[in-house]
Amino acid sequence: MRIAMIGSGYVGLVSGACLADFGHDVTCIDKDAAKIEALKQNQIPIFEPGLEALVASNVRAGRLSFTTEFEGPVAAADVVFIAVGTPSRRGDGHADLSYVYAAAREIALAVKGFTVVVTKSTVPVGTGDEVERVIREANPDADVAVVSNPEFLREGAAIADFKRPDRIVVGLDGDRGKEAMSEVYRPLYLNQAPILFTSRRSSELIKYAANAFLAMKITFINEMADLCESVGADVQAVSRGIGLDNRIGSKFLHAGPGYGGSCFPKDTIALVKTAQDQGTPLRLIETTVSINDQRKRAMARKVIQASGGEIRGKKVAILGLTFKPNTDDMREAPSLSIIQALQDAGARVSAFDPEGMEPARQLLGGVDYASDAYDAAQDADVLVIVTEWDVFRALDLKRLKAAMKSPLMVDLRNIYRRDDVVREGFRYVSIGRPGDDAAFQLDVAAE
Ligand code: UDX
Repeated sequence: MRIAMIGSGYVGLVSGACLADFGHDVTCIDKDAAKIEALKQNQIPIFEPGLEALVASNVRAGRLSFTTEFEGPVAAADVVFIAVGTPSRRGDGHADLSYVYAAAREIALAVKGFTVVVTKSTVPVGTGDEVERVIREANPDADVAVVSNPEFLREGAAIADFKRPDRIVVGLDGDRGKEAMSEVYRPLYLNQAPILFTSRRSSELIKYAANAFLAMKITFINEMADLCESVGADVQAVSRGIGLDNRIGSKFLHAGPGYGGSCFPKDTIALVKTAQDQGTPLRLIETTVSINDQRKRAMARKVIQASGGEIRGKKVAILGLTFKPNTDDMREAPSLSIIQALQDAGARVSAFDPEGMEPARQLLGGVDYASDAYDAAQDADVLVIVTEWDVFRALDLKRLKAAMKSPLMVDLRNIYRRDDVVREGFRYVSIGRPGDDAAFQLDVAAE
């Protein structure tokens, strides 16, 4: 299959490289000449484990190339993927589809022969209809089938998610395009990944419904963690106890500081807007969005409370800035709200993150960026684990304690066992686990 991938951002690049690895002939197209030039030198603009090697080997094999040229590769393609950005529109939270429609217009003018046009970008229900209309308007002779094929890639695990998906969803109205899409994903068929053919609108909604459900699941366990703290239960036990029920499932039940990232926050808001516009509001998701927003700020209050109710003039060491590990992505990261609120309350903040320091510098002023966890902890009154990078899971607690002014750890990802930390002489506060308050009160009484 000859494939043109329009947009060499996160989704386009990962999908393009994986499809080339399946044996297809893939051209990745982007308007950003500097990005294409860098990709040609095998400089990958994003941090994604395994992507650099995958791109290099497929370029070497002659199956993957990069260009700013649009017409030639689109004319030659059997299948054209649209993988451009759909950011939140300023002001109203709807997805901004201008890049998608601009790509559709250009595709209309370039296609030759029957071509399947696939929307991979996350787009609201009905966008496929509009893409088709735009193409027909720009070129009534264009022979295309417009298909929806959402991605379910997690940052940090995107290649594995692409190659071993739980399912592939393909939305098309009519049968044209079905054969080509089967061919595109044939290697996955052979791995027995189920492929769900459905209508275009259903496919578009599946993507949003999946993300909204997962965001709701995380928010559910986060609220349950708060209740655990009130009643003296352990959220990890509750999570395991309910997760073993197959109807619930154990994934996405880790309590934490609230979800962030490029998808959940943006997609939940876009879905809420669509539903409101249709007169069928999704109140569960509306509530999920607002609970999650409040939770990020509440985490700063938790740190202040653990520090005895006053943080002014104190030094807070933050470990982990990105919205989750194995990415350099800072979008909607809980660290942003937490650090801002701590600074507003008068704290001095030092921080370390294995990959997120550069993007963080652009977003967060007044932070002392450290060279490692121990450097961040130097003279700190409290250490806060915000992102569960592996390097933070086995810190040398003796060294950490010696560096800190007072040994207090607030673990917002529950990556430590309280006994291990307390044994080293720390006060320890985590999320939804018993003992925190009791130990804290004991400590305060002893001071
Ligand atoms: C998500 C979806 O998983 C993916 O299918 C979709 O295509 C894009 O959005 P991603 O944003 O990369 O992927 O990250 P994910 O691993 O899903 O985590 C999202 C956020 O939820 C992170 O902030 C993470 O820390 C948080 N999270 C996740 C929890 O707090 N608890 C959990 O149990 C799982």
